Amino acid sequence: MKKITFIKTGVLGLSALALHRKASALYYYPNESDKKWAVLCGTWCGSSRDALVWIPEGMDGIANVFDVRKNPNLTGYDHIFVGTSIRGGQTTELFQEYMKYNQVRLMGKVRSLFVVCGNRIHPPGPEQKTALIDKYLAQLCGVSGVPLKLFLGRITYGLLDPDSLKMMQGMNMPEYDNLKREECMAFGKEILESV
Ligand SMILES: Cc1cc2nc3c(=O)[nH]c(=O)nc-3n(C[C@H](O)[C@H](O)[C@H](O)COP(=O)(O)O)c2cc1C
Repeated sequence: MKKITFIKTGVLGLSALALHRKASALYYYPNESDKKWAVLCGTWCGSSRDALVWIPEGMDGIANVFDVRKNPNLTGYDHIFVGTSIRGGQTTELFQEYMKYNQVRLMGKVRSLFVVCGNRIHPPGPEQKTALIDKYLAQLCGVSGVPLKLFLGRITYGLLDPDSLKMMQGMNMPEYDNLKREECMAFGKEILESV
């Protein structure tokens, strides 16, 4: 092989490898299943996003993961988990918008609702579940009679916008991390087995 051809082939090979690595890093491939599962969430700083990824881990990777910021079309899915983080007792504006326009499309497919909240670092009780899920998220999503879960989340000062940071520090709220991967995985498994 001529020297120039050898160099060209090498460069093309390396580019293809780089592209492949990039694609692998960007895509999450679920395992095959006869049922189409999806997990959808609304988040500010990412704790619900982690729940969104860990719930399908408990289902051996058969659920696809979606963030409402991407305005996903979930019409091809049969079973959907819906969850959101909470600030000031509410979810993100985008989540509220998404539900307003997609509630009818998701009707009959939502198998479970979950909330990620701080609860001022206290263990949550039935009253938090009632306030944040039964009386809020379930109504926003137009869903009733499905299993509900409340996860404790986290606060990372470096991820907060200046106003939120000021508010948290004004409340003497320290940084914390109470979201547990094993709890999220157990929830995914529980719902999968119940359907
Ligand atoms: C500005 C602000 C307001 C919050 N308001 C509430 C609240 O009303 N109730 C609650 O239980 N937790 C509240 N939290 C805690 C969040 O729900 C918790 O940090 C959650 O993990 C954030 O989720 P995210 O990382 O997905 O955005 C608040 C946190 C911040 C920063």
